[in-house]
Amino acid sequence: MDAVSAWVLAVDFGTTNTIAAVGDANGVRTLTIDGRPVMPSAVFLNESGWIVGEAAVRFARRRLDRFERCPKRAIPDRVLFLAGHDVPVVDAITAVFRPIVHEAAQQSGGRPPAAFVVTHPATWAGSRVQILQTAAAIAARDLPGWPSPYPLAEPVAAAQRTMDIAVVPPVARLVVLDLGGGTVDVTVVDRNGAYLTVAGRPTGIDSLGGEDFDLRLARWMTAEVGAPALFDRLAMSVNPEERERAVDIRDHARLVKEQLSRQSAVPAQLPKSPPELPDNTPVLVNKLELEKLIRGGDGAEPGLIDAVDLVVKSLSTAPPGPPLAGVFLVGGSSRIPLLGTLVVERIGQVPLKHGDPTTAVADGAARHALAAVTAPAPVHYWAPPPPPPPPPRPQSSGRGGAAAAVVIGLFVILALLAVFAELAAY
Ligand SMILES: Nc1ncnc2c1ncn2[C@@H]1O[C@H](COP(=O)(O)OP(=O)(O)OP(=O)(O)O)[C@@H](O)[C@H]1O
Ligand SMILES: [Mg+2]
Repeated sequence: MDAVSAWVLAVDFGTTNTIAAVGDANGVRTLTIDGRPVMPSAVFLNESGWIVGEAAVRFARRRLDRFERCPKRAIPDRVLFLAGHDVPVVDAITAVFRPIVHEAAQQSGGRPPAAFVVTHPATWAGSRVQILQTAAAIAARDLPGWPSPYPLAEPVAAAQRTMDIAVVPPVARLVVLDLGGGTVDVTVVDRNGAYLTVAGRPTGIDSLGGEDFDLRLARWMTAEVGAPALFDRLAMSVNPEERERAVDIRDHARLVKEQLSRQSAVPAQLPKSPPELPDNTPVLVNKLELEKLIRGGDGAEPGLIDAVDLVVKSLSTAPPGPPLAGVFLVGGSSRIPLLGTLVVERIGQVPLKHGDPTTAVADGAARHALAAVTAPAPVHYWAPPPPPPPPPRPQSSGRGGAAAAVVIGLFVILALLAVFAELAAY
């Protein structure tokens, strides 16, 4: 396949969302699945197989025991507990990858991609990365000609997106701060022209992300209306209707949290939950309350302060490198304004933002793969052919040869004269 018609696929399998990007000669775009650019990473195990994405979230309503909202969090354990059984997590992830690779194959007219990239947290060991690669390979195995998926660290992928920002010079250091749904990841990435390398050790907090903020806010909202233990009681209930109410409260908390990135207060409503809540109960959430819950720092649950502390620590422990161009914020939860404020306070620089932070990893990974695939072949300069070897030199040629012949001739004559003189005397 030539560089013009080559296309690449990158998949960012996130804790909350899975996003895919396609790159070709026209650039990079987010792949839409069922018309949407973001697919929940959720899975639901039906009697007849896996249901994924939005459909899984809808199916979950009545059978939460068959549902997993964040299968990425189960990768360290290798298994998910669904419908009373341990199920290999690789099966669930394969199910998430399958509609993506098939949609990408269909949108490209059945041509295989020149490269297929799967992204992973930079802190992950090879065995976890292998699970992602295996799932991606199985998902694409019935598609003829597809290449083996190759892994790319999420911060390196995200940093690729900064290549065309003027404030990032060709030789520069970045700190990628990725605050997503399930984790915070902090990585120092050095740029040297077109090359990006991780400097020092990537760090992160595995249990800090938007999902955790939703939970804290859901608990706070029920406590605020006088029912502090309600959320946990509903979430642990054996009654599916009650567990469903807990899911509703959490979904509601997520929406409120996201709106609080744009406005200072949001009116919410809690579902009827007798005996604690007799009817739909209003609760007003303001930004300062959310910030108290997620700020972190001394003595508090881990939060944004701890994420920014990791930036400071990463910079102080990284090997010497080029000057810092900035802290690049990616991941959906990086939209929370307090994060940027804390970066300014601790680092003394306004953080870098570029494009949609939710799609940064998938988009950057597709750019990365595209750059590798379409890189111009090394230039071979034309050189004239070497001159033919000189013909073998004649044994006696030129002046030296003639002189030698004269000397030899004289010797012969003198020798003959001496012989004749000898004979005459005799
Ligand atoms: N405007 C917003 N304000 C606050 N949070 C937001 C906003 N928009 C999205 N989020 C949160 O971003 C999170 C999802 O981000 P993202 O898609 O980057 O995570 P992910 O890649 O699935 O997770 P991870 O990278 O941790 O594996 C969700 O918790 C979502 O609620
Ligand atoms: Mg992510």
